[in-house]
Amino acid sequence: MSVIEETFGALPSPTAAFSEELSGLAGIYQDDVNLMVWQRDLDSETKQSVSAVLQTDRPLSLNQIVTPENVSQSLERGLPQVDGRDALIRDIALLVDAYCCLFDLETAGLRLTQVDRAMCPRFHVDQVPCRLITTFAGPATQWLEENSLNRSKLGRGSNGQPDSSSGLIQANANIQQITVGDVALLKGERWEGNEGRGIVHRSPGVEQGQQRLLLTLDMA
Ligand SMILES: [Fe+2]
Repeated sequence: MSVIEETFGALPSPTAAFSEELSGLAGIYQDDVNLMVWQRDLDSETKQSVSAVLQTDRPLSLNQIVTPENVSQSLERGLPQVDGRDALIRDIALLVDAYCCLFDLETAGLRLTQVDRAMCPRFHVDQVPCRLITTFAGPATQWLEENSLNRSKLGRGSNGQPDSSSGLIQANANIQQITVGDVALLKGERWEGNEGRGIVHRSPGVEQGQQRLLLTLDMA
């Protein structure tokens, strides 16, 4: 039992929440929410922008510390010089601004990565306070509802067994998946009071020839 539980009693089971508004991301501040999703459709201009950026020779891998003020410039330097990339830059700048505003940050750690295979294929929790994840192309992040999992089987608790047979995933559990374009805030283990309650998630498998474009923002 954590110190918080001893002091205030057990918190309600962590849960996911969804909003169709950007402002709904503030729901992550609720104690029982460990995944907050802004559900949205990417407009056609942004989708075209994503395709253009993905059609370059070198796989994209940007890792930058940015501010809401310099993120556009920083991306202009880091992204390939392709026509139509501006819509993607505008969208990422919006997300950096929202993330910094929500958590009262001056800077954010930005990673924009093109992926052609699963990066963290096992279910896990992140050792961060709260990470923003958006998949601009390809399959998006998968996660487990609290009543679908046995946290004691995470990490070493799996005894070397794969997630499919370790007992981590309860029988009949549905693996949940975020939708492309949606903006997800994943509360990790280092959010105050959230130890042992971080959202359990994984990168999806990527099929041969499929490309993902993944944005993550962290507290820098
Ligand atoms: Fe993760």
